[in-house]
Amino acid sequence: MFECDRSLTFTAPHRDDPSHCIPFVTYPGLDDPSIANSVVIGLPIVIDHSPLPTDAVWTPQPTDDGSFTFFSEAFSESFHSRQGARAEAFLKFVQTTDLSQKAHRDRLRLLDVCYGLGYNTAAALETIWAINPQCQVELYGLELDATVPQAAIAPPLICVWDQRIQAVLQAMALTHQCTTPPLSATLCIGDARQHIQSLVQSGFQADAIFFDPFSPRRCPQLWTVEFLTLVVRCLAPDGKLATYSRAASVRSAMQLAGLSIGTIPPLTDHLSHEWAQGTVGAFDARSLLPLSPMEQEHLQTRAAVPYRDPTLGDSAATILERHQQEQAGSTLESTSSWRRRWNIH
Ligand SMILES: C[S@@+](CC[C@H](N)C(=O)[O-])C[C@H]1O[C@@H](n2cnc3c(N)ncnc32)[C@H](O)[C@@H]1O
Repeated sequence: MFECDRSLTFTAPHRDDPSHCIPFVTYPGLDDPSIANSVVIGLPIVIDHSPLPTDAVWTPQPTDDGSFTFFSEAFSESFHSRQGARAEAFLKFVQTTDLSQKAHRDRLRLLDVCYGLGYNTAAALETIWAINPQCQVELYGLELDATVPQAAIAPPLICVWDQRIQAVLQAMALTHQCTTPPLSATLCIGDARQHIQSLVQSGFQADAIFFDPFSPRRCPQLWTVEFLTLVVRCLAPDGKLATYSRAASVRSAMQLAGLSIGTIPPLTDHLSHEWAQGTVGAFDARSLLPLSPMEQEHLQTRAAVPYRDPTLGDSAATILERHQQEQAGSTLESTSSWRRRWNIH
């Protein structure tokens, strides 16, 4: 069963030269040539020698709250919900990891898995420092493609954040680090499956983890039991991990990785197939909103067969194939009968 796909219906941008390695931002609908020029010229272009980017042309797409997202041709998916990229960062990642309450602490540690445009990092820092400007934050971001954060610091994308946050996003995109009195941040460019191993060895313990890969069928390698197990080893005893995914395969992988799971409830006015907006994991179930009976039963269906990547090095195709075979051999209830029982269309 496919779910929680962020694919949008807009037409994906074309790339004239797929091997182009400089991030280039185009602005459809920007009629004033002087603005368009300043946008393109103002984009700090850095030749990056990290792994070849998956996309080189990033076309900002407006979302409903006025902030922008990108669409990845490589993953055939949008980076954010069409309801609002900025809003999603606050609602699904910052609120759910209790950062407003935790901001009163002297020090907080954050792990942003799939940093992308840096929106989850930005929303977290904005929230924490609005409450406690002195709070010392230590942050690691994991991101495959250095051109994404670079393209995201061009106006108008970056303008949705205040000046202080803009400076952080710029430093992260251009130098992959940001060190100011209240912040020590590092952006690790490359496959998160490799970087997470170093983070585990370093003993880093995050108070909040933002877990934001493309959806499981597009990027299964970051939703496996094996990868999540390493991510969970970076979670502090009272920390929380938040993701937009409510997929049963993801939830069961989180449980197998050692977490209790809770739901992110839907907005009040929702359709029957929108039963949750995501999942939160923690070691102590008492700090979580319990799954509804419908969601609990979902975990007893074939949709709950998790993705596996024993060596943390398999391709997406291999992981999908393995998953399909395990589902086919499963004796669990079919997900379609669960859907019929709960009237989910
Ligand atoms: C849904 S987007 C993340 C959006 C981001 N959190 C934000 O707020 O803008 C997924 C990101 O995962 C990155 N990605 C894909 N595969 C990856 C991998 N193996 N390791 C690390 N990052 C990866 C993509 O380049 C993309 O930026």
